[in-house]
Amino acid sequence: MRQRPRRNRKHPLVRALARETALDPARLILPLFVHELPGDQPIASMPGCARLGERGLLEEVEGALGDGIGAVALFPVVPEGDKTPDGRGAYDPRGLIPRTLRLLRERFPDLVLVTDVALDPYSSDGHDGLVAADGRILNDETVELLVRQALCQAEAGAQVIAPSDMMDGRIGAIRDGLDAAGHQEVSILAYTAKYASAFYGPFRDALDSAPRHGDKKTYQMDPANSKEALRELALDEAEGADLVMVKPAGPYLDVVRALAESTPLPVAAYQVSGEYAMLKAAAERGWIDERRAVLESLLAIRRAGASAILSYYARDAARWLRSG
Ligand code: PBG
Repeated sequence: MRQRPRRNRKHPLVRALARETALDPARLILPLFVHELPGDQPIASMPGCARLGERGLLEEVEGALGDGIGAVALFPVVPEGDKTPDGRGAYDPRGLIPRTLRLLRERFPDLVLVTDVALDPYSSDGHDGLVAADGRILNDETVELLVRQALCQAEAGAQVIAPSDMMDGRIGAIRDGLDAAGHQEVSILAYTAKYASAFYGPFRDALDSAPRHGDKKTYQMDPANSKEALRELALDEAEGADLVMVKPAGPYLDVVRALAESTPLPVAAYQVSGEYAMLKAAAERGWIDERRAVLESLLAIRRAGASAILSYYARDAARWLRSG
């Protein structure tokens, strides 16, 4: 036999020479939940993750930097009583996210701060956009508010604004708004192909942000579609996105690959709360080897073409990579 592919697998050092993909902590972004309370509060459906108070947040960020992670994505837990139908807390300069940004910016000047743009944490309807009396999600009216939210975050020190709302035209509107206010340096990480997925369940528990009525199918993408992701990609590129994202990650590796092959922009992928919860639950039962399964899931996302990965496992993965 002339061809024996196993020759390239015969020894760890030979395998290392032949390896096509590598994981690196610098490519991981750690999503964090912050709340107004002083202490930390565990999230039942995401064991190992918590809603963090100020002290817990500072410890977590310091630990993440120590693990080699350079970026965190912040999500706010807004008390029920502070949510409104118009989600106006999203652009309150004294709100939790702007305060958290200022705190982290001062304590960790090199940390990359990524913020979520969408109304759902602040909306008493639990939707990413404004809800009309008949239940429709209003697009253009919402985009105006998203621009205000993005500006509020940029003023407070966010370097990467990540709109996850899936309204049409929001990337261009946010880019124009940022530029007009002198924030040319602030990047936009567009949730380009964000699917109407069942895998966001634990996240909505964490934020208590599940839609109070209806679902998100009139704005998030249909899981049946991938060509549509290329259409969203073309729009986000034209509107000025700096990075584009696919979400969820694991069940949508074909979409990650399609985007990576179609754009010169870096592609990010979000290993979402339900992906985390599945791995965690199986690991807790002893049904899979957590370390191996998690590193494999992240490597597969990289192999599909992701340049950066958001993952609740970011710190564990970074530590496991370090320890070899
Ligand atoms: C909402 C938002 C969601 C997530 C990030 N931003 C949930 C949703 O769209 O309902 C999900 C992240 C996760 O599941 O880890 N703007």
